[in-house]
Parts: sequence; C-alpha cells; structure tokens
Amino acid sequence: MFIKLFGANYIYYDFFAGSGYDADGAPGSPIILLEEAMGEKSKHCNSIKNSGKAVTFIFNEHEPTKRQSKFEELKINIEKHTRKCKEDNNCAHCCFKTNITNMDFGKEFKTDINIKAILNNTNNGKFVILDQYGFTQVDAEVFTTLVNAPRTDFIFFISSSFLKRFEEHPVSKKFIGDGNLSFDESKPEECHQIIVKYFESIIPSNKEYYLNHFTIKKGGNYYGLIFGTAHTLGMEKFQRVCWNIDPRAGESNCNIQNDFEANTLFGQLETNKIHGVKEQLTKEILSGNIKDNIKGLKRALSLRCLPSIFTETIKDLEKKKIIERLGCKSYRSTDIHRIKENQADYYKINILR
Ligand SMILES: C[S@@+](CC[C@H](N)C(=O)[O-])C[C@H]1O[C@@H](n2cnc3c(N)ncnc32)[C@H](O)[C@@H]1O
Repeated sequence: MFIKLFGANYIYYDFFAGSGYDADGAPGSPIILLEEAMGEKSKHCNSIKNSGKAVTFIFNEHEPTKRQSKFEELKINIEKHTRKCKEDNNCAHCCFKTNITNMDFGKEFKTDINIKAILNNTNNGKFVILDQYGFTQVDAEVFTTLVNAPRTDFIFFISSSFLKRFEEHPVSKKFIGDGNLSFDESKPEECHQIIVKYFESIIPSNKEYYLNHFTIKKGGNYYGLIFGTAHTLGMEKFQRVCWNIDPRAGESNCNIQNDFEANTLFGQLETNKIHGVKEQLTKEILSGNIKDNIKGLKRALSLRCLPSIFTETIKDLEKKKIIERLGCKSYRSTDIHRIKENQADYYKINILR
C-alpha cells in the first residue's frame, strides 16, 4: 500500500486528512501544510531545495461510513495544489513528495508493517498529525508507540468535552477507567488538562520526554491539542507559539488560570502560572534538585514554560544573593540543546544561604 519512503529525510504524516478543504471551502490540514511548505513565498521551500533533503507528506483519509469520496477528493485537491504551485513558481521539479493513502487508522496503525518501519526509522525526522473526530482513535497503545518512535514529534487533537459529556461511552469508560480520571462538573475547562495528566502518567519515568497541551474554547465546547517530542528544540518551538497566543499562561485561549487582566485594578505583576512555576523552580534549586542550568532550563520546559523563566528565576535569586553561578556567566535560554556540560554557556548553581 505504501510507496517507498525510506530515502526521505523528513516525513509529515497526517493520518486523518479529510478532503483538503472543509465544507465552507477553507483549507484543512493537508492544504495548510502544503501552503506552509511550498512555493516562492514559503521560507521552507528554498531552504529545503538548498539543503538537498527530501520531504514527504503522507495524507491518509478513510471515511468508514460512506464511499471513498473524501479520499478521492483529497487526491484531486493535492494534485491540483501541487500542479498550480509548480506552474506559479516555474518549477520543473518539486522538492516535496506527496502520498495519499486510505487506511483505516483504528485497524491498521497498530499492525501495519510499513507504518512501523516509517516510525521506527532512526534517520528520518517525522511529524505525525492526528486530527480525529471525537476521541476514539488515540488510546494508550497508540500514544506509547508515538512516544517511543525515534525522531518523531506528534500533535493530536482531542475533543475533551466529548469525553466528559459521554462518560458512559465505552471509549470514555476505558480512558477514565485506565487513568482513574475524574472530571469536576464545575470546571469543564480543566477537562483537557486532566486527559493530558493521564497521558503523561504513561510515559516511562526514566524517559526524557516533553508533553504539552493547548486548550481551545469554541462556543460551549473545549477542544485541545497535545504535542509530544523527545527534543527540547521541538518543545521550545511549540512553547513559543503557545505563549504568543496566550501570554498569561501559554496554555489556552480562555484564561483557564483565572488571571486578572493586565492594567486593571487587580492586574498582577506576574500571572498565576508564571508565579507558580517560578516558585516551583526556586524550590527545586534551593533543595539542590536543580544543580545546573541544563537541568533548570529543561525543567522549565517540562513545567510548560519557555526556558527563559528559569533564567529569570536565577537572576532573581542572584540579586537577592541567595545563589551564585559557577562557570560561564551566560544567560542563554534558547536552543538549549546546544548547552553541554562544562562547555560554553554552562554553569552550576551554588547556594549561598
Ligand atoms: C476531524 S476530520 C479531519 C479534518 C482535517 N484534518 C482538516 O483539517 O480538514 C477527521 C477525518 O478523519 C476521517 N476518518 C474517520 N475515521 C477514520 C479512520 N478510522 N481512519 C482514517 N481516517 C478516518 C474522517 O473521514 C474525517 O475526514
């Protein structure tokens, strides 16, 4: 069923692609991805061309109840988009490859040997997108497969309020039972965070892994996305997007932490999330759990903040003469994977009192 992909360097795998456009004609995930990647105006197109690397998009669509109209539409829409891009940009050859498949995710993800081979390949970078209807498709086994796949980041969408609303549905029961989840009726906005906590609890404790979420309120419903990566750079990029959208907490479009608005009578200097994370980092620094900047910057990421919040905490403690830095006096807080022990930008923390 799958085309040979193993020479590719980057693979984007959209498992629930739809037809390419929604009912109103607005671009769906496959077209959004292609628009972002292809064409003169895209910053990625030229850099990919110059790098000599190959990028493959795999779009999968399987409409279980109807005939395969969406799958056929998807093929046509992707073909059209690619052809137009080639013509508009006078490209004889496109550096992006696209494959369209129509497997049933629920049946084939766990067993298909081609998917396994793609996910387990250690040379290629992979980005997996799971935009399911409802919540039925990503269970603990799917999640664990993705977490354990090398060089694989993923994002999945979940309608958290479905889970809450259909507590008696067998899939909800499985989730809720497995994770011993309980939902507070009065706080529907927290539903999504509870599900994330469940997924977090099944990541092996000895694995360095970053999981983040973003909650989106639309009408009376709460939707969420969950992003997972084993690499700090992936999480730094995701965090940057989240904090740009939600400067208070980097986690929702609906002020989940109940912060007062800035510039109001009760406006706080620090939002609840920022205050809480700084307190937590301070505690871990002073208890000796965080002994150097590598650990502190990574811990900030796993507390779902940008690494710079750790640097702010350090500056604060230095100013109060509670700690001093030993080694390099750099406040580097981005691209933290480049900081290596006892090399440039690395420091240890010494507690003064
Ligand atoms: C929420 S829509 C995805 C929309 C698309 N990502 C977009 O941005 O426009 C979910 C899609 O998954 C497809 N689908 C449902 N069950 C599936 C399955 N078991 N395997 C693969 N695709 C499925 C549906 O036909 C539908 O087009």
